[in-house]
Amino acid sequence: MTTDPVTLMKQEVGKAAAARVKSDSIVGLGTGSTTAFAIQYIGERLASGELKNIVGVPTSFQAEVLAKKYNIPLTTLDAIDHIDVAIDGADEVDPQKNLIKGGGAAHTREKVVDSLAQEFIVVVDGGKLVDKLGSTFLLPVEVIPMAVTPVMRKLEDLGGKPDLRMGIKKAGPVVTDQGNLVIDVKFDNIPNPASLEAEINNIPGVLENGLFVGVADVVLVGEIVDGKPHI
Ligand code: 5RP
Repeated sequence: MTTDPVTLMKQEVGKAAAARVKSDSIVGLGTGSTTAFAIQYIGERLASGELKNIVGVPTSFQAEVLAKKYNIPLTTLDAIDHIDVAIDGADEVDPQKNLIKGGGAAHTREKVVDSLAQEFIVVVDGGKLVDKLGSTFLLPVEVIPMAVTPVMRKLEDLGGKPDLRMGIKKAGPVVTDQGNLVIDVKFDNIPNPASLEAEINNIPGVLENGLFVGVADVVLVGEIVDGKPHI
């Protein structure tokens, strides 16, 4: 059992989000280490019979693998007409519940699924809360491989410092579930997240960026209070 405080916060907040899932619902399954705990607890509630008739929509290959591990039935967007609730992590959350996502390179599918959900629950540890987006985390931009260089130039024109995301030991670039690449961009400040989100997505060759503006409904924050994890 872990005693690492950040992991304990992630575990508690994942569990709290999973507890909000109701029987007979379609659930968007997010990506990352915090959502992984939510997927685990949804699976455990299903296995115990407390939760019935759940179907999941994974936001990544990672979420799909975890859902299968915990015996959560899966579906695709072609087979459903709504998503009741989505649970997903974030890399930064501002006071207006706007997010930066994509630390796991899954933000494109995440934005599709999370924005379709009637209720989108964000699960984060307290370290993810910021006054201004971009202050601690780089902004991920998914780009088709042949367009990397011109997209980087356009991102510089927008005031960013772009860097191609490399994988473990820098042996090669990170490749997304769609077969694309990720450019991480440092912006000294993001005064208007909604307009930057639209401007970046308007660059030819960009598939999606990690700004999620006006998508989150609920943010559950894990914190350590008196030495114990607390939501
Ligand atoms: C993946 C994401 C993740 O949700 C985000 O990176 C948070 O991950 P974690 O819960 O592991 O901190 O956006 O693309």
